[in-house]
Amino acid sequence: MNDFLYDNQQLMCEKVPVSRIAEEVGTPFYLYSYATLRNHFRVFKEAFADVPHMICFAVKANSNLAVLKVFIDEGGGVDIVSGGELFRALSAGVDPGKVVYSGVGKRVDEIEYALRSNILMFNVESWQELEVINQCAQGLGLRAGIALRVNPDVDPKTHPHISTGLKENKFGIDIERSLETYRLANSLKHVDIKGVSCHIGSQVTRLSPFVEALDRLSGLVRQLKEEGFDIRYIDLGGGLGITYDSETPPHPSEYAEAVLSAARDLDCTFIFEPGRVIVGNAGILVTKVLYTKSTDNKNFIIVDAGMNDLVRPSLYNSFHAIRPVALDNRKEIVADVVGPICESGDYLAKARKIASFERGDLLAVFSAGAYGFTMASNYNSRPRIPEIMVREDRYHIIRKRETYADLISHEEIPPFLIKQPG
Ligand code: LLP
Repeated sequence: MNDFLYDNQQLMCEKVPVSRIAEEVGTPFYLYSYATLRNHFRVFKEAFADVPHMICFAVKANSNLAVLKVFIDEGGGVDIVSGGELFRALSAGVDPGKVVYSGVGKRVDEIEYALRSNILMFNVESWQELEVINQCAQGLGLRAGIALRVNPDVDPKTHPHISTGLKENKFGIDIERSLETYRLANSLKHVDIKGVSCHIGSQVTRLSPFVEALDRLSGLVRQLKEEGFDIRYIDLGGGLGITYDSETPPHPSEYAEAVLSAARDLDCTFIFEPGRVIVGNAGILVTKVLYTKSTDNKNFIIVDAGMNDLVRPSLYNSFHAIRPVALDNRKEIVADVVGPICESGDYLAKARKIASFERGDLLAVFSAGAYGFTMASNYNSRPRIPEIMVREDRYHIIRKRETYADLISHEEIPPFLIKQPG
């Protein structure tokens, strides 16, 4: 369920007509529904109501402060992968005791920042990283909470770019080696071994890979407990998929049922790091048709949003539904919806059956709330577009449109390029 529905042929976000925002703010822009964000978070959280749990939203999916605040206000924590994400989450008011830090390449300054901030734990991806964390903690006179991120070697059956839990992927510590790594970790005085973690991939639309991963993980947790390790947290990462087109991913309650039936008895606090399933369908990208043109065998709809604004179609060939902001009964054509960037790979849709849009029409690109704005760039010197949140009949610009001045604000012409007089 989401709150982008048509009323009288007009696309609404909650109670605000999308066309009104386009008129007042200009295009393109990202648009999020507060109600959808909150409801998606609640549905996920409620699915685990009867076990101790923590929902640590994956900041990489959408890192706008206002979006983070919605989840923080619902009692959520965050999963971060950089110092920048930690800064954002703390700025939005997260409780540091609900922060888990994932990622395969944590820098010393980032580790120290996280330690000083007193986060819950690091999901550690290698023995070297663990040693560095131990050293950093020693230097600061602290103990670092840690879990090892175990690579369970299961195939999440998703796009190869976003599968992470296979042996061949760069992530985590091989499950076969993890027990000995835990034993070694015991000798490090400045780490507090709190848990076990894994993340198998993203946009996973079946339950079996999760269950398989958890089966392997729970075997490890049992063994660790037997050996006297105080394992208090089991972090299952994120990855639950959403409907972009015709996928039928499990509902969070089915996911919860499957997960808990495999691991309820472990007597741990469960941590989840959902990103896409919470924000993906809580956001759209609104863009305007600049031009249309046809060649002998192709129709092109050229819009004012490009791959710098939403890179997923270009990068993963991923599908995003595109619908008109104002419905009418136009005939359908097959067209490529392309952006203004000087690359043939710049498209939002390829060979799509779509209404025969015309110059000036507003289009909504759906399922753009996750990995949309966060993956945007300034390529072709295009200012990044605004993000807007609607709550009932109000909207607010939660990130301003960048200006041309913003584009050059970090650049400097060096003195040796400046001509001296005479
Ligand atoms: N936890 C970890 C350790 C992760 O690496 C990720 C995503 C998540 C949680 C959240 O996964 P989610 O629930 O959103 O599936 N840019 C790609 C997705 C990359 C996902 C990377 N890791 C895309 O646009 O599809």
